[in-house]
Amino acid sequence: MNLASVSRAEADSLLPTYDRHRVLFTRGRGVYLWDANGKRYLDFLSGIGVNALGHRHPAVRRAIRTQSDKLIHISNLYFHEYQSELAKQLTKTSGLDRAFFCNSGTEAWEGALKIARAHASAGKNNGSRTKWRILVLENSFHGRTFGSLATTGQPKYRAPFEPLVPGIRFVKFNDVGDLERQFDASVCAVGIETIQGEGGVRPVSKEFLKAARRLTRRHGALLLLDEIQCGLGRTGRHFAYQHYGITPDLVTVAKPIAAGLPLGAILTTNKAASCIHPGMHGTTFGGGPLACAVALEVQRVTNGLLTHIERLGRYFRSHLETLKFKHKGIVEVRGMGLMIGMELESADRAKAIVVHLLDHGVLINRTHNTVLRFLPPYIIEKSHVNQVIRLLDSSLSEHAVSTSSRGRG
Ligand SMILES: Cc1ncc(COP(=O)(O)O)c(C=O)c1O
Repeated sequence: MNLASVSRAEADSLLPTYDRHRVLFTRGRGVYLWDANGKRYLDFLSGIGVNALGHRHPAVRRAIRTQSDKLIHISNLYFHEYQSELAKQLTKTSGLDRAFFCNSGTEAWEGALKIARAHASAGKNNGSRTKWRILVLENSFHGRTFGSLATTGQPKYRAPFEPLVPGIRFVKFNDVGDLERQFDASVCAVGIETIQGEGGVRPVSKEFLKAARRLTRRHGALLLLDEIQCGLGRTGRHFAYQHYGITPDLVTVAKPIAAGLPLGAILTTNKAASCIHPGMHGTTFGGGPLACAVALEVQRVTNGLLTHIERLGRYFRSHLETLKFKHKGIVEVRGMGLMIGMELESADRAKAIVVHLLDHGVLINRTHNTVLRFLPPYIIEKSHVNQVIRLLDSSLSEHAVSTSSRGRG
């Protein structure tokens, strides 16, 4: 089995959904991956924020081994011991009351939208006007299923599948005036990524998030935060909203929660959860014993890494800022903790740099065309950052502004 035969077989047998880089990975350890030719790569993307503890972390391997020897799946018709334990962990760190476990980010966000509607329709019995509209942000990304897609503020993702779920309105990013203008009595929820990930690593402003909190609270609507990419330690705190001094009514998490096993979660208040009754929502696979047992270990290890994430993030960003002074065509360095974006002026240059880094054994990706995105595992050390900075420095020189404007890559 080699890259050529695998890619040929995929071309003949899979839906053509992915434009993959031409690398066939066969194993990983810590912050490194190896391809089929034995070439080593430093992983600064961690499966788009999933492999937060790197590859083959001993605690994850131990939990998988132990739990898979006991029980992998039972369905949600019966009890197992880990869902409530994990819920207790996550409610303690989030300041919320209850959890629902599912399989992925988009499924968590779908559930969040359903809770927003159900909460509003339960409130109708009190004689209040019907609330059904959901305000979300331009440039956002919430997933690929219909509700998540309907709330994703990037037309390129929605257009082929319209008409989507009705009742969604898009607010200009960080524009408090636009939020206030669009907020009326028909709004049942405001949904926000605390840091837009796919949209180019853009943190929501404190002023905007506080305005959303104030308006939703005043009008009995829910504040839903999507922390599927930025939550669970990525920013150096358990949740990115903890940098803002607010607590939402609901937050969704997924990617790093079980370090690579499919799991997502909705965390919410008792009040919002009171609209849910048996049979209203559910999943076959979500919250199985294997994924939950692993997630418990991941949370335990992550708890001990928060300060490290914060420190390494600061170190990494300061070196990226130095590159910004040195090289033309870098617009901005953004992010928190180990969720970092470097925006370039040129999409072609960003593309060429991602390929250059890949060729030289470092994995990052490009999002929103012009933004280099870094989502390294929480276990990186300064030496790994130094290696990436050195390579970026030479790559930025090699693909300097004058050459990139000729449209390379
Ligand atoms: C902020 C955010 N929300 C939702 C999703 C969808 O998650 P999934 O791909 O697990 O469905 C993603 C995935 O990139 C995301 O970054």
